[in-house]
Amino acid sequence: MKYLAVLLTVSIALFAYPIDSYLVQLKKEAIAKDANFKGFDANRGKEIFTSKHIGKRGKKISCASCHTNNLLNYGENIFTGKKIKPLSPKANPKRLTDIKKVKKWLRRNFKDVYKREGTPQEKGDVLLYILNN
Ligand code: HEC
Repeated sequence: MKYLAVLLTVSIALFAYPIDSYLVQLKKEAIAKDANFKGFDANRGKEIFTSKHIGKRGKKISCASCHTNNLLNYGENIFTGKKIKPLSPKANPKRLTDIKKVKKWLRRNFKDVYKREGTPQEKGDVLLYILNN
């Protein structure tokens, strides 16, 4: 019984944050695509976030074009001029708590910048980068 309690505590701790279970799900999807998948990498995530690509409306943009290079700062939607609250959960505790919202915006924003959806590995990498900043 004691062990069961320990096991339960460990798994509750692991899944206390919805973003953690989403990362576990992305990891499973990444392994299904590539058996050699080694884990998510915040440095790759930074590259995904900051590198520029011909995206929406033929403009050369990156994720940072709207969210800036400092995730603690406010950003601005370059297409609408609307302010965007900081992306880092350190500056904005609501960030990465609503997985439905995270999925929706990752889908949209990858299309804005990369003109395609992100792969499970790319999404995990970039989320890890955001969580670390
Ligand atoms: C054209 C401007 C723009 C670009 C480019 C952009 N975003 Fe966003 N992003 C937004 C807006 C607008 C929202 C939704 C408003 C909000 O949540 O403040 C958002 C929301 C998000 C969220 C939701 C976070 C949460 O939990 O609330 C994530 C994650 C995100 N963006 C990541 C990215 C990544 C990764 C890229 C690059 C692939 C990117 N964004 C590029 C404008 C942009």
